[in-house]
Parts: sequence; C-alpha cells; structure tokens
Amino acid sequence: MAISIKSPEDVAEMRPACRLAGEVLDYIEPFVTPGVTTAELDRLCHNFMVDVQGCIPAPLNYAPPGYKPYPKSICASVNHQVCHGIPNDRALKKGDIVNLDITTIKQGWHGDTSRTFVVGDASILAKRLVAITHECLWVGIAQVKPGVRLGSIGAAIQKHAESAGFSVVREFCGHGIGRNFHEEPQVLHYGKAAEGPILETGMVFTIEPMINAGKAAISELPDGWTIVTKDRSLSAQWEHTVTVTQTGVAVLTLSAGAPSCPQGITITP
Ligand code: MF3
Ligand code: CO
Ligand code: CO
Repeated sequence: MAISIKSPEDVAEMRPACRLAGEVLDYIEPFVTPGVTTAELDRLCHNFMVDVQGCIPAPLNYAPPGYKPYPKSICASVNHQVCHGIPNDRALKKGDIVNLDITTIKQGWHGDTSRTFVVGDASILAKRLVAITHECLWVGIAQVKPGVRLGSIGAAIQKHAESAGFSVVREFCGHGIGRNFHEEPQVLHYGKAAEGPILETGMVFTIEPMINAGKAAISELPDGWTIVTKDRSLSAQWEHTVTVTQTGVAVLTLSAGAPSCPQGITITP
C-alpha cells in the first residue's frame, strides 16, 4: 500500500477529529493530580468524548493483527511505561509522569495526540525528560514540508534526544492516519535525513517520539499491550497529527490548551 494523499476536502474533514482529540487533553489536564487513578481518567475522557464531543474513542476494542482487543478508551503510560499503558486502579502520586494518548473518530476520520503530564511536581530529571521530549516532537514537526525526505524527521529527533543524553525508542513509530487509525508510512523517530519517501502535500501522519532517560530497549508486559523500558528508566512521549501543506506543515491536533512550539524552533506553515 502506498502513502495516501488526502485532498484539501479530506483534510478539512479530518480537522474536527484532530481538534477534539486535543480538546480531550485540555479537558483532562486539571484532573491529573495526586490520588487520581488512570481508570478514573479513562472514564472521564470516555464520557467526555462520547457524551460531550459526540465522537468515538478509537482505542476501545482496537485489535490490530496479533493483539487482543484494547480494553480501554485512552492509553495512560506512567513513569517507565513507554506507551499503550492500560488504565488501572492504581493512584497517581506526586512526582509521577503520565502520558495520556487520545485518539478520536469523528465523521469517519481519526485524530491522534498525546501529552506527558507531570503529577504535582517531579524530579529535575523527569521534568527535563518531559521538556526535551516535547522539543523532540517540535524539531520533528519543523522538518515537514513538501520535497523533504521522511527520514529528516527521525534524524532531527534522534539528534535532539541524544545530545541531551537520552535515547529514542526504536520499536514504535509515528504513522499515517485518516479513515484508518494506522496507515502508511511508518514515521521513525531516528534515522538519516537522506532516507525514506519524499513528503508530498496532502500526506497526513503522526509524529510521536518516545524518549527514554536510560537505554532505548523496551519490553512488553504480560497484558499484551503495555510497553516498558527494559532498564525501568523513565520514558516520555508527545504526539501530534500533522499534514504536509503546499509550503510546510499544519498541526491538526493543536487546541487551546496545547503547549505551543518551543522558543527557537521554527515552523513553516
Ligand atoms: N494512540 C496510539 C498511537 O499513537 C495507539 C494506541 S493503540 C491502543 O499510535 F490500542 F493501544 F490504543
Ligand atoms: Co499515533
Ligand atoms: Co496516539
């Protein structure tokens, strides 16, 4: 399967799903405090998506080949959990970091975005990992324009993460997105600028670097979903859904509460 090119009408139709996903994160942020469980955050997000936004939480019962159906409506990955953490009844505590990953379906289109929140306050290391990972997302976004190779995104992210002394998870990547949750291409968060397909106007994909404070290696928990760092070091992740415009990039999952592009990183709209 080739990388699908979305028409301007398609991209316009995708915008609501993408904006709503961002707005779920805006909604849930005040609830991410010491004592709340990730199951409660899941329930709140589920009800907000279904009852207020009128959209479908894409993760619920999502079952790609080789996986059992995902049992919850959001992913919540705490501390050394890298991604796909299943919400549960353990309470968050001050100093934790938690990634909440939201994917909505609206009008048949998907929107996918995640942020890593600091619970209360956290260690200097945890806060630095979260901030550098956010910068990694945006240095990746800053590469996006027609004519550039996909590998430029991963190369920029890898350089930024590794110069900070952190490592890039290899086994999971960004992805094309549209009528399907996961489409071509795979958007690696490491690699070489000269590699990969050439970006064209109308491509829509996610960039979602997972950055570890320790080594890059990961393992999967027996629940069949949760990914953790092998060395149990902290891991952070940020994600946006973006589209290639005629001149650069549009970030479709931005919402009022989304942190903006960090100082010193330049985006071409
Ligand atoms: N939202 C994740 C991503 O960014 C995928 C989660 S799949 C799930 O690609 F089933 F765990 F929800
Ligand atoms: Co994604
Ligand atoms: Co996601």
